[in-house]
Amino acid sequence: MAAALKSIVAPTASTLSNPTLEAEVPIEIFPVPQSRSVHGNAFPLGIRVKEGHQFQDIDAAVRRIEELAQTGLFDGLLQSHGTILFRGFPVKTASDFSKFVKAFRLPQPHREIGLSGKRTTINDAVKTANEEPPDVKFYYHSEYGRSAHFPGVLFFFSEIVPEQGGQTPLLSSLELYDRLRAEMPEFAHDLETKVSPSSLFAASGKIELNNSRQDSYGFDIQAGDSLDVQRSKVEAVLKQDLQAEAEWQPNGALHVLQKLPAIRRIQSTGKATFFNGFAGVYGRARDNDALKSPYRGLDGKYHLPTTYGDGSPIPTAYLDRLLDLSDEIGFLVPWEAGDVALIDNYTVQHARSPWVGKRSLLVSLWDGREKFAPF
Ligand SMILES: [Fe+2]
Repeated sequence: MAAALKSIVAPTASTLSNPTLEAEVPIEIFPVPQSRSVHGNAFPLGIRVKEGHQFQDIDAAVRRIEELAQTGLFDGLLQSHGTILFRGFPVKTASDFSKFVKAFRLPQPHREIGLSGKRTTINDAVKTANEEPPDVKFYYHSEYGRSAHFPGVLFFFSEIVPEQGGQTPLLSSLELYDRLRAEMPEFAHDLETKVSPSSLFAASGKIELNNSRQDSYGFDIQAGDSLDVQRSKVEAVLKQDLQAEAEWQPNGALHVLQKLPAIRRIQSTGKATFFNGFAGVYGRARDNDALKSPYRGLDGKYHLPTTYGDGSPIPTAYLDRLLDLSDEIGFLVPWEAGDVALIDNYTVQHARSPWVGKRSLLVSLWDGREKFAPF
């Protein structure tokens, strides 16, 4: 892997070590312990401030990142490596993190539609990652991988590292596709070709929302709106922004269905990627003993079944193996305080490990420059 790393980073190493705006604060590629090699590239790639050096303050670091971002360096590295782990930069607070992420000059902050977890907005670019209790495991998923509206790029900032656990699991969606194709070719074939009425290939995602929460779809709801008005405003968002099907349930919950391809092709590289979140939805249902009708789990929530786009069931043997496979190729980000991970949502899935103690992981979501091409 060392040779592969060297050959890939050689053209960029000189860019990193020759600052023109900041005198002598060298940064360098470093091998992240236990990193993997995917298509000959280190996953993830580490970039750190060289030992014995430090930026004077966050503004100095931001100027250096801006200088490098303008060369297109990070776009290229993200395309090759999927994830970049930044270490040793003076990012200590949410405010520092906000300045840091803006330095990458990505097209625009991502507007979330359909939030199903709970996040608190900290500032204009930063939110908490998720506020579910620390013992809750999240399975691998592409961020908003069950939606037509998703961010291209994610940043995670490790503000406080817990006493135990809490490493963020990452996997390469390119590697997951390769392994799926090699080990379960029938399943890969079904995902790529199973015909639904409106799409060539599909795996469906269903989301249940009680009260169509304001930060999910109800952005336009005003105090005093009648229930009918609230519903029509939610329906308008679903129709205009997501082209989703939705059904109100007798208990007031909203079931949202989007038929989306589970495997897609990256425009910049032509590679196939496993972009979705259905395995994790299944995993949670399995954990909560909710795989059978009426799909109500031990946690009291509904866990609607994930199916192919034509409504036929995905065999549980496939789903069980997919979850195991994801764990086999996963990488745990060994967070240190101040670390920032830059993640290409198109080619990398993330998850969440339980932890003990106090932890703060902040997130910033952006629209990037990558696109999907026709499969
Ligand atoms: Fe996520």
